[in-house]
Amino acid sequence: MLSQRGRRKADEPLRPDLDFLSQASENPYAPDNTTGAIALCIAENLLQWDAMRDKLQAIARDQPWPEWMAAYTQLGGAPDFREAVAGFVSRHIAGQPLAADHFCGSAGATAVVEVSAMCLGDAGDYAVFPAPAYQAYLPDIQNKAGLLRHDITHYARPFGPEEHPLSLRELDTARETLGTRFRMLVLTQPDNPTGAIYGEAQLREIAEWCIRHQIHLIVNEIYALSRFDRQTAGLEHTAPFVSFLPYLEQRDSPYLHWWYSFSKDFGISGFRVGLLYSRNETFRQAYGNYNAPHQISNPTQWLLARLLEDDAWVTAFQERNARLLTAAYRTVTDALDELKVPYTPARGSLFVWADFSGYLPERNREAAEALWAAIFTETGVLLTAPGGLGQPEAGWFRIVYSGVSTAALAEAMRRLSQFLNVRRGSAT
Ligand SMILES: Cc1ncc(COP(=O)(O)O)c(C=O)c1O
Repeated sequence: MLSQRGRRKADEPLRPDLDFLSQASENPYAPDNTTGAIALCIAENLLQWDAMRDKLQAIARDQPWPEWMAAYTQLGGAPDFREAVAGFVSRHIAGQPLAADHFCGSAGATAVVEVSAMCLGDAGDYAVFPAPAYQAYLPDIQNKAGLLRHDITHYARPFGPEEHPLSLRELDTARETLGTRFRMLVLTQPDNPTGAIYGEAQLREIAEWCIRHQIHLIVNEIYALSRFDRQTAGLEHTAPFVSFLPYLEQRDSPYLHWWYSFSKDFGISGFRVGLLYSRNETFRQAYGNYNAPHQISNPTQWLLARLLEDDAWVTAFQERNARLLTAAYRTVTDALDELKVPYTPARGSLFVWADFSGYLPERNREAAEALWAAIFTETGVLLTAPGGLGQPEAGWFRIVYSGVSTAALAEAMRRLSQFLNVRRGSAT
């Protein structure tokens, strides 16, 4: 009945936790259902949805809808939207002016990754990722473009509050292994799942290495504004996040590109808005020509453009976001500190990357999956399924702290602590 690939895909769920997730959604935690399930597995930020909803509703109600909303628009995004996006990214992320026509928009970063892979590599070529890394990079580069994922794997443990451990030596080794099939390197900062960032000099060095070897470097800054309040998080003495965009601008190379999305920093993953920024005109042309099935709907582009124009509102939203993320991060790390569970100190993002291997009878994948399943069935707390992120050692789990209310997160950590204390007690 289906194509061969359609048949294969029918048995390949997008995520391994879908069954548990649907169970969790049947009985979610709520103020009047405090024993309900709490999902801490999806990379979402719903902490300010109420404020966002009020703002978007007011725009849609009060501002006149333009003629262009009902018609087809440019493949890389409506000019009005690209102007607004360029202003926002310039002010809030790059810190310097950027050209609106160097941006292309697609329906979420998922589509941006897929269309970029179509343009930058051929089937059988490799995209390289420092791992652990975002799980869905694999289907996004592979489903249509046919690229393969090569991980440069790092043990999570040595990650400190300093920069990401990726080194040029490791890139050389990957190049020796993959040869000219090494077509693109993707860095995510702040990182999913570790929360790490890259140093400014480190990014320059990596960029120069890529240009020298004619490899495309893409820095995915989808969590650029999902940062902490540096003082409250005790990060005053660490180097701050520095966007890759100023160097990309200054270096002006056809091999340097940047990705973004409104899913995380604005907490509107359902709106499906992602961005590419590149100074490579041929890439942007190819991108637009592949982008027809991935365009952002015009009403969404219009709504976002009006939102971004209200810069005072956006600034206040992002400042509050940093405070809420810092508090939620602390709720999780305080509980882990108490349990003596190690974790990588995050510099941003929506995650705590924690090592629960002390609770495994044996350090292997089966034991990690059994622990993950037991946490859900016994406490109703659903963590991101282990495996798939490219973690080298079993027992590391990702905890998302921004997709549920403050009360739900506190309750989840209380249940998790109780569960782990019982496990520890029965093991000794
Ligand atoms: C690193 C990274 N890239 C891309 C995406 C996809 O985002 P979007 O919702 O914009 O498709 C995610 C979502 O979790 C992500 O973490």
